[in-house]
Amino acid sequence: MNQPSAQGSDAAPYREGELALSADRMRQTGHRAVDLVVERLQDAARHPPHAVASPADLAGLLHEPLPEQGADLTALLEHLARDVLPLGIRFDHPRCFAFVPTTGNYPAVLADLLSSAFLSVPGAWLVGSGPTRVELTAVAWLRELLGLPDGWGGLFVSGGSVANLTALAAARDHRLAGVLADARLYCSTQAHPSIARAAHLLGLDRSQLTALEPDRAQRLDPRALAARLEADLAAGLRPFAVVATLGTTGTGAIDPLAELAGICRRHRLWLHADGAHGAAVALTDRGRELRRALGLADSLTIDPHKWLFQPYETGCVLVRDPELLKHTFRMARHHLDTGYLHPAEAQGDQINLDDYGPQQSRGLRALKLWLSLKTFGAAAFRRAVEHGLRLSDHAAARIAAHSELSLVTAPSVGILTFRYRPPGTIDPRTLDELQHTVSRAVCATGEAMLLTTRVHGRPVLRMCTINPATGPADIDATLDLVLAAGRSASRASED
Ligand SMILES: Cc1ncc(COP(=O)(O)O)c(C=O)c1O
Repeated sequence: MNQPSAQGSDAAPYREGELALSADRMRQTGHRAVDLVVERLQDAARHPPHAVASPADLAGLLHEPLPEQGADLTALLEHLARDVLPLGIRFDHPRCFAFVPTTGNYPAVLADLLSSAFLSVPGAWLVGSGPTRVELTAVAWLRELLGLPDGWGGLFVSGGSVANLTALAAARDHRLAGVLADARLYCSTQAHPSIARAAHLLGLDRSQLTALEPDRAQRLDPRALAARLEADLAAGLRPFAVVATLGTTGTGAIDPLAELAGICRRHRLWLHADGAHGAAVALTDRGRELRRALGLADSLTIDPHKWLFQPYETGCVLVRDPELLKHTFRMARHHLDTGYLHPAEAQGDQINLDDYGPQQSRGLRALKLWLSLKTFGAAAFRRAVEHGLRLSDHAAARIAAHSELSLVTAPSVGILTFRYRPPGTIDPRTLDELQHTVSRAVCATGEAMLLTTRVHGRPVLRMCTINPATGPADIDATLDLVLAAGRSASRASED
């Protein structure tokens, strides 16, 4: 019988020159990639916090024919790091205060490298027992960091949106037993849009999501909720769950979890806490009250890719009774012909994490948190969260001390809102427009990034100070830019 030649058409394509590189090339290109990573991580402050290109420019750069033949990997890496990947917001820039700015961390970058190389899949125990154990440990550490009671468990997902969807799917199945008619889900208008999107994906129409107006402090108002529940029950509707937001994205407001838990207990409703951003405050002394209340919820979303300094996608959903996730998601519940999966069924005390969430093949997102906690220690994370709180206090004090700045919402979970107000009288519409002008002008300097949001219907400047690369001098310099932009815009409008 003829042996296929090593380079002939029968040769396995995973070989040098086809789908693989020589060991030397892998090392060379890998070293260059690490250099690019280190430059990126060290250079954050040396570039503007925001770079954007037009769709036409980017089409010119990237819209190209399918590459039939390969090209030099080092040149490709350089191209990406120089021309493509920097286009966007640099969330790790110390003067980036937009959305939820945070650094990643280097061990987490290496974690992604390793888990890619090892094709780690914490899905079925048979497929990835080591990766599964890493994820279970990372979940347990997260539970401990947040002070959640024993028994809570869960899994890593892409981010807060999928964590909310996963928890609410379990809530729907547990509380509604398959009947969606007249079901009602409650949150405040300040909840994240991923809640409304989850409701839609779970088969609820828009009338089945009740978004209540918040109180003056932008929190879900327990009295308004209780009244609405009574009315809905009297009308024969079927309330099944409430979403409390722990740190609304706009102003950082924390819904009163303990009071909401009392109402949910009375009405046998599932209480989901969306702490994607704000739950991390439970790591600190100031978050003690929240820490005590967290365990009153039935489920919790936390995004380590926000205030636990991880790269994307590192989200986590935690549930008081993880078996309820299994009830919704376990493969066997969704029987088609799964004969090929039988060899991968969990035996004895093995755990198949693909039974607890919507993905079967899943990346080892947990390794990022695991490796960075092991490298730096939990105390470093607690200090970094504290630092974000102190920065927002510092910003608030500077704003309060200046006659042309006024604080609109006090710092909460590292978020505050304020307005620039020129001396003298100014009509409300001009003052509103001025906030947008100031934001645009500050961003245009290329030195800082500060965006707007709305509070009680009026535009305000919003600052999120949780970036561990930011210091008080960055806050001061940014507020100076606000003052300069505000004065210049006010002068221009007088001319
Ligand atoms: C409170 C809250 N929930 C959910 C999300 C969605 O998280 P992700 O973007 O990770 O899906 C966000 C994002 O900012 C958020 O602030």
